[in-house]
Amino acid sequence: MKNFLIIIILLISSFQFSISNRKQNYYNQQQFESIIINILHKYFTYDFEEPISINHNIENNNDETKVDPNDHVNVELWNKLNEEDIKKMPVINDYSNEIIAKKWLKWYLYIVQRYSQVDIYLNWNYMTNITEENQQAITAQNLIQSPFSRLVLPIAKKFNEYMKYSENYDLKRIFGGLASSTTSNNDDDVKRISKLGSQLEDIYSTTKVCELNNKKKCYALAPYLERLMQIEKDYDRLLWAWKGWHDECGNKIRPVYLPYIDLLNKNVKENGYHDLAQYWIKGYGIGNVTGFESIIDQLLKNIMPLYEQLHAYVRGRLCSKYENRFDCNGPIPAHILGNMWAQTWHDRLDDIIPYPDAPLINITKVLIEKKFSIHQLYTMAESFFTSIGLYPMTPKFWARSMFEKPTDRNVVCHGSAFNMGYHDDYRVKICTEINDDYFYTVHHEMGHIEYYMAYSEKQPFVYQSGANSGFNEAIGDTIGMFAISPAHLIKLGFLDEENVNLHYEINYLFRLALEKVAFLPFSYVMDKYRFLLFRNEIDVEHELNSKWWALRIEYGGIMAGAPRNDKKNFDAGAKYHIPSNVPYLRYFFAHILQFQFHRAMCRLQGVTKRLHMCDIYGNKYVGEKFKEMLAMGASKSWPEILENFTGENKLESQAILDFFQPLYNWLKMENLARGYPVGWM
Ligand SMILES: *[C@@H]1O[C@H](CO)[C@@H](O)[C@H](O)[C@H]1NC(C)=O
Ligand SMILES: *[C@@H]1O[C@H](CO)[C@@H](O)[C@H](O)[C@H]1NC(C)=O
Ligand SMILES: *[C@@H]1O[C@H](CO)[C@@H](O)[C@H](O)[C@H]1NC(C)=O
Ligand SMILES: *[C@@H]1O[C@H](CO)[C@@H](O)[C@H](O)[C@H]1NC(C)=O
Ligand SMILES: *[C@@H]1O[C@H](CO)[C@@H](O)[C@H](O)[C@H]1NC(C)=O
Ligand SMILES: *[C@@H]1O[C@H](CO)[C@@H](O)[C@H](O)[C@H]1NC(C)=O
Ligand SMILES: [Zn+2]
Repeated sequence: MKNFLIIIILLISSFQFSISNRKQNYYNQQQFESIIINILHKYFTYDFEEPISINHNIENNNDETKVDPNDHVNVELWNKLNEEDIKKMPVINDYSNEIIAKKWLKWYLYIVQRYSQVDIYLNWNYMTNITEENQQAITAQNLIQSPFSRLVLPIAKKFNEYMKYSENYDLKRIFGGLASSTTSNNDDDVKRISKLGSQLEDIYSTTKVCELNNKKKCYALAPYLERLMQIEKDYDRLLWAWKGWHDECGNKIRPVYLPYIDLLNKNVKENGYHDLAQYWIKGYGIGNVTGFESIIDQLLKNIMPLYEQLHAYVRGRLCSKYENRFDCNGPIPAHILGNMWAQTWHDRLDDIIPYPDAPLINITKVLIEKKFSIHQLYTMAESFFTSIGLYPMTPKFWARSMFEKPTDRNVVCHGSAFNMGYHDDYRVKICTEINDDYFYTVHHEMGHIEYYMAYSEKQPFVYQSGANSGFNEAIGDTIGMFAISPAHLIKLGFLDEENVNLHYEINYLFRLALEKVAFLPFSYVMDKYRFLLFRNEIDVEHELNSKWWALRIEYGGIMAGAPRNDKKNFDAGAKYHIPSNVPYLRYFFAHILQFQFHRAMCRLQGVTKRLHMCDIYGNKYVGEKFKEMLAMGASKSWPEILENFTGENKLESQAILDFFQPLYNWLKMENLARGYPVGWM
């Protein structure tokens, strides 16, 4: 699926889905998205009519009845129109001529916009209805589009030879972006990549784990196994689920994934890259490979003192709970942290809560008691956004989203948000259940939609994307963090103000650290590992799996819960973003960035201390500034956009450290008092 992005074309594409880091996934082509231009607005007069512009019709929101079921992309028609338009490529007699370059670009973008609409539409169809037919439609579309990408890439590169010296910043930026794109000259590769990609998606979505004593009783990851990892306490039952999933899914992914990335690597090499790692890194716009890696290393290093204290405390507490099950001085087994991948640990909060006398409000319980429907979860999240002056959801959002797991077909359950790029069509796909995790996820995914709406309204197609892929993820997380803050829960009437005291605050900070701080080493390793793999620095015969665990241990102090087999297992492949080939450092950046956003918003509100108690709900002034940033889309480089909003022009780990400062002090004292060792090597 994403292969078509990586491989085939679409130098730009306005379509994105996005995914929450916990539930999920996607998109990758931010590379080009982040580079293109508003030339359309600025310099061109249209001679094509504009049938596909985005029109925000926000007044009549929430009225599903007004949605015309036929108002969507017509794949055949779009392809036919493109076929015609492709023939009308402007004549190029001088690649150094900026007027010609602009004319060509206009022609090009017009076609790409249609293709991107088709792509996102077919992807939605497939992800919400996994069938052979829907998969084949994607492959067929890839084949239709690849001649176009083969046609345009060499031309874009030739233009770039001159435009890189252009005085015009925008032209320079756009062509630079287009020229760094890739294409495939081989239809067989296109087909194989598309096919393997779908196969991987399919394995991940359909794998089940069976009871040891009853092979007919089998469970899918969502919702059964995921939930079990969150709520089960029994060490061996947890291990069954963990090992079952990693064996069943990872082992099947392994033989498909390895040839898949070989093909992807081959393709980027044909396009002049050293390997896929270099290609991914380029997309972030954060320096060259060496510079990039030293930046992420430094960010993680700054966080490590906090992480180590958190790890020490959690391990100490779990060690008393599961006596003699693991070494209290070593890494923590991955299956007892409340999450299948041990990427966030907050679902174990109750067993390790610092102050049991001040339990955190149980959002799940409140939602159930107040008889919240799934629909109400969404309207509640929407009201947060509208309270700060952001957009209400569109009629199509309500009419076309997938809010629940369907019972009549297979779907990709990972939460994600889609920008269909056509007539106010924004959707989420979430297998929502009424609990605290989804309370957060709904805010997160809606944050993506707000971003889509803001830049779609204010920017031309070329700039309709996030400032970088980390921004996309950070927006919804920032709002989600406000939504679950004690201050906000009081406003919602979920929490009694009298219950909030110093113990409560430490508990809350601790809970959030289990989610946000614990995640950083995990997200770092996800791509560090893949970089090694893409660079052929892992011996896949002998250390494919052990290398994964070596990194998990080194950076996070997390180990496999059971002995693993390097010949068969592929535990990394049991995490969605590996088979679905979604770069993961975006979530690492998002976790740094969201604290920068959060701090900036609180500052705008006049709050500089106890940041965890700040809630910007209803603050139209803060919302206005935030919206300005969202509306900039990719029209500037991300450091400029960040600076405009936060006053900082780079990723800074200080914001997250500021946020957790009171907890850090507490953990150091507490670990000392309890005699908990710190570190694991
Ligand atoms: C799922 O896709 C199939 C085509 O493979 C189609 O016939 C069916 O109507 C779709 N189901 C839904 C609910 O969209
Ligand atoms: C690019 O060129 C156009 C005119 O062709 C001009 O209006 C615009 O200001 C230029 N942009 C930059 C950044 O120089
Ligand atoms: C099978 O194992 C499950 C989980 O350990 C247990 O709950 C169940 O009672 C067992 N069933 C039988 C028939 O032994
Ligand atoms: C990468 O960037 C750094 C500084 O940004 C520079 O010192 C180094 O020479 C660059 N390396 C390569 C291979 O271009
Ligand atoms: C929260 O409430 C739900 C629903 O009542 C319950 O199932 C769950 O165990 C509670 N969680 C905690 C940590 O008490
Ligand atoms: C930030 O963006 C706003 C809206 O685009 C603009 O008016 C303002 O001048 C920018 N500020 C800076 C410091 O760039
Ligand atoms: Zn997301």
